[in-house]
Amino acid sequence: MNTVLSMLKPLIFLLIVTLSINLSLAYVKRIDKIGTSGGTGPIGGIGSVSNPLKKAHCYITDAYLFANPKDGRKLSNCKKPQMLKKHPEKSQAAENYYKIIVDSTDAGERQSIIGFGHAWTDASVYVLNKLNPDVLEKAMQDLFGQTGNNMGFMRHTIGSSDLSHYQYSYNDNGPSCNKGIPDPHLSNFTLGEYGLSMVKMLQKMNKYKSDITLIGSPWSAPGWMKQNGYFFNNGDTYSTDSNSFDNKYITEYTNYLVKYVDEFRKHGVTVNAITPQNEPLNNQVGYPCMYLNASDQAKLVSGDLGIKMKQRGVGIWAYDHNTDNTEYPQTVLRDGNGHVTGVAWHCYQDPYANYTVIRDFHREYPDIPHFMTECSNYDPKINSVNFAVADSFMGPIKNGASGASMWVMATDEYFGPHTAGGGCDKCSGSLIIKGSMKYKKTADYYMIGQFSRFIRRGAVNHHIIRGDNGEPGDENQFQVLAARNPDSSWAIVFQNKGSREHNVVLEFSKDGDLWSGIVPGNTVVTWTLPGDKIR
Ligand SMILES: *[C@@H]1O[C@H](CO)[C@@H](O)[C@H](O)[C@H]1NC(C)=O
Ligand SMILES: *[C@@H]1O[C@H](CO)[C@@H](O)[C@H](O)[C@H]1NC(C)=O
Ligand SMILES: *[C@@H]1O[C@H](CO)[C@@H](O)[C@H](O)[C@H]1NC(C)=O
Repeated sequence: MNTVLSMLKPLIFLLIVTLSINLSLAYVKRIDKIGTSGGTGPIGGIGSVSNPLKKAHCYITDAYLFANPKDGRKLSNCKKPQMLKKHPEKSQAAENYYKIIVDSTDAGERQSIIGFGHAWTDASVYVLNKLNPDVLEKAMQDLFGQTGNNMGFMRHTIGSSDLSHYQYSYNDNGPSCNKGIPDPHLSNFTLGEYGLSMVKMLQKMNKYKSDITLIGSPWSAPGWMKQNGYFFNNGDTYSTDSNSFDNKYITEYTNYLVKYVDEFRKHGVTVNAITPQNEPLNNQVGYPCMYLNASDQAKLVSGDLGIKMKQRGVGIWAYDHNTDNTEYPQTVLRDGNGHVTGVAWHCYQDPYANYTVIRDFHREYPDIPHFMTECSNYDPKINSVNFAVADSFMGPIKNGASGASMWVMATDEYFGPHTAGGGCDKCSGSLIIKGSMKYKKTADYYMIGQFSRFIRRGAVNHHIIRGDNGEPGDENQFQVLAARNPDSSWAIVFQNKGSREHNVVLEFSKDGDLWSGIVPGNTVVTWTLPGDKIR
């Protein structure tokens, strides 16, 4: 027995070493584009190689929503961090410091980051189109310009969503989305009024800034591809007998999605990836949605949809729903014939999204990137602290996601327009449009900017050895995100949910460099720090 053990010892040692190497490498996924169709931008802006950072800066946004929107710090400059010669540990003030250690070694590298953004809905397009052309131009600058939020990861709705005037698809083939008759050759496919407005707005976005990553998600297939249409109710609002995909239409649905990609391309808009279905486990009757079970999604993806999207350089991301179900994306990855190129997650698990599931997936599928594709800031209340955006960006990225996008980009003053039958009636966007001359940048706009302005495409997320404290529900949670930008500079984002100010000392493990600065309570603060090549 003993001899056997001692013979096995070196093997066990090797096994442990191999396992730990694998674990430490498990998150590394270098991606600088999605699919093969492009979406490599936005290039330029802080941290880009074309615009290397030379000095340290500090930016701060209050999470407290003041009654008077003019109050509070919004991407304001704060006192820039100072480089320290030696650790304050050696001084008496040591206990007053909040210590953070960033693993800046190669082993500390995690996934690379594509970007941050918001979702284009029919409502967003509609309200933006109400603006006078020069005001619209200014709004686009605020959203996508290098001196604005410089967003690089955008989602859009294929056909209607709940943030549309009414429910429709690109092939209703009847008087309404629910009364169409089968059109097996899709000869009546049409983008329609709203689809055309969507593609034209995306054209405008692309003209403004090329290479923004664009992903598309349908809220539903055309009604005739569904079991019992949208409105059937057998007494159980969530019955899968109603508002569900009928898998005898796999070929038709495949062709529908392919036609959408081709139509958009004809209009000069390249889609970089799709999710086959937004929230496939949601089949609330009357709501723009559709139930599509995991085996049907796998069937779609493993067959012609996978082949045809690959031919077009368009990625396919599985699932697109909450973190409480991991079996669904597992099934689609396993049975997807290698056609799944990413996994998409939403934040609505009650009470908190559990993004650690992304880590588990990375261990099993190290080449598959993950994205937080939807979270909404529902009914933000004045005179309260609101971390909805920061939570939805921090959690996923810190756990291995390569991008995150909020729902929805712009609305009118009443969070609309949205569908009558059900729709998010209080989802806050980046912009609130008032008439043709005015728009307001919301608190969310500035929170998004804390990330999207300073973390460039191709930045690499680094492991935090020390400094993250608390779980999502803790009112004093403190989180740190350290992203190394392409120019080798750092963007360090702090989220301080507690009311106490922290006197931070941040150490980079590789060279021992030390920086100190203040992170006030109830804020998100970003430090941009020049790379060692420049200092
Ligand atoms: C398809 O659209 C045409 C008009 O463009 C219409 O005449 C025809 O009835 C539609 N087909 C069906 C099956 O509804
Ligand atoms: C998935 O849905 C289809 C209907 O499109 C149904 O026939 C099939 O039994 C379902 N599979 C599972 C595993 O629920
Ligand atoms: C979160 O997911 C992990 C698996 O990644 C699991 O172990 C843990 O129990 C989950 N936590 C909650 C609160 O659901």
